[in-house]
Amino acid sequence: MASVDGVIMAAGKGTRMKSGLPKVLHRLGGRALLAHVIESAAGLQPRRLIVVTGHGAEQVDAAARSFAEGAGLATCDTVLQSPQLGTGHAVQQALPLLPEDGICLVLNGDVPLIETATLQALVQACAGERLALLTVDMADPTGYGRIVREGEAVRAIVEHKDATQAQRRITEIYSGFMAAPNRLLRDWLGRLSNDNAQGEYYLTDVVKFAVQDGVAVTALRTPDPVQVDGVNSPVQLAQLERAYQLRRARALMEQGVRLADPARLDVRGTLSCGADVEIDVNCVFEGEVTLGEGVRIGANCVIANARIAAGAVIHPFTHIDGESAGVTVGEGARVGPYARLRPGAVLGADVHIGNFVEVKNSTLAAGAKANHLAYLGDATVGERVNYGAGSITANYDGANKHRTVIEADVHVGSNCVLVAPVTLGAGGTVGGGSTITKDTPPGALSVARGKQVAIPNWKRPVKGSR
Ligand code: UD1
Ligand code: CA
Repeated sequence: MASVDGVIMAAGKGTRMKSGLPKVLHRLGGRALLAHVIESAAGLQPRRLIVVTGHGAEQVDAAARSFAEGAGLATCDTVLQSPQLGTGHAVQQALPLLPEDGICLVLNGDVPLIETATLQALVQACAGERLALLTVDMADPTGYGRIVREGEAVRAIVEHKDATQAQRRITEIYSGFMAAPNRLLRDWLGRLSNDNAQGEYYLTDVVKFAVQDGVAVTALRTPDPVQVDGVNSPVQLAQLERAYQLRRARALMEQGVRLADPARLDVRGTLSCGADVEIDVNCVFEGEVTLGEGVRIGANCVIANARIAAGAVIHPFTHIDGESAGVTVGEGARVGPYARLRPGAVLGADVHIGNFVEVKNSTLAAGAKANHLAYLGDATVGERVNYGAGSITANYDGANKHRTVIEADVHVGSNCVLVAPVTLGAGGTVGGGSTITKDTPPGALSVARGKQVAIPNWKRPVKGSR
């Protein structure tokens, strides 16, 4: 098979997005539109990948390079198209970087859900000698380039604005994806003129030249319109987001994941699930999330960059975000409702984290519990520790973070302040309301608070008796 070079058109302004952000950097499923396109192209292992940029070029160039790197591509070039004189003009800018041999695959930077297999089929249809077009039937083809056929043979693509009434009734449209031999494409692009309704250099005019030159033109009709849906407005972006999420939900259910409602799930990254995972409504998964066998996620949880081991239960309204450090929830652990796990939270087996408990950069060993209204930051918590309601680690002195070590089987009463650095010895007890500033001995009861006093016969002030 001949080498494939990808050219992604991404110079357009995206006026209808009404946004300061270049259109191809708007996100779908948590990733930029352009990142999706680059990833699908990368699946073909192209020899070269060239992104044509214009509006917001600086931002788009940098983003394109990082997406290409993320997709495992060794190279990615960007070329500037300024001013933007049409899609044919866009691809012309890439010609200096295209070798003589090989196949050029033209992609649209704002059509994110194209799949590698479809691109592969397009390249195969080109086979190094034909012009291959990806087309689709549309109930309402208004605005698109129509595929004009004589019998079965494709004769031309006519843009909506240039089309006759009869041509406007054609429902087969050009998707924006084509594959052509580099050698022929170079020649055809050299023959383009802008003598048309929009005064633009149309890439679609290459069909006319192929026909003139006796080069076979193949139209590959995709049965899957979502793959060629473009994003031009916030409404279209939202619609495509739902289509994308529904696909992800289906794929999860096909693996056996039980979703309470596939329409109320958002996955913005990768979600790997073991057997018998159950996810209730309105959950959002971001970054890399792994759910072990039998994990149950309650309604309205947001979970990012976390590994949740087998049998763990995350109750409703829990927010977990491991960012780059990650969060680990051990086997059979129970978290929430209304819990917050932050980067570096590592919960062992059967740990319980209850409502309004925040855990950051802390390790809790097996069986430890913090059930209500508490904060654990920069702490090492031993097995079976019970951490009382309202207790906090004072881990930050305004400049530095300090560690709190709570050894195994310690019982911390309610409303304690543990001023780090401090170590609570194994098996000890801390009386409720204590402010602990010194290490506590193992096995002892440590109390650090004002002693309770009783003043007998205390007369409360009475209103109006002065
Ligand atoms: C183009 C096709 C049309 C097809 C439609 C599918 C042409 C002439 N027409 O329509 O047949 O049905 O796509 O969506 O090709 N771009 C540039 N530089 C430019 C102009 C556009 O990079 O000078 C980029 C845009 O950013 C976008 C893509 O090319 O990613 C398509 O541009 P758009 O204006 O949406 O295409 P149309 O011309 O409307
Ligand atoms: Ca368009």
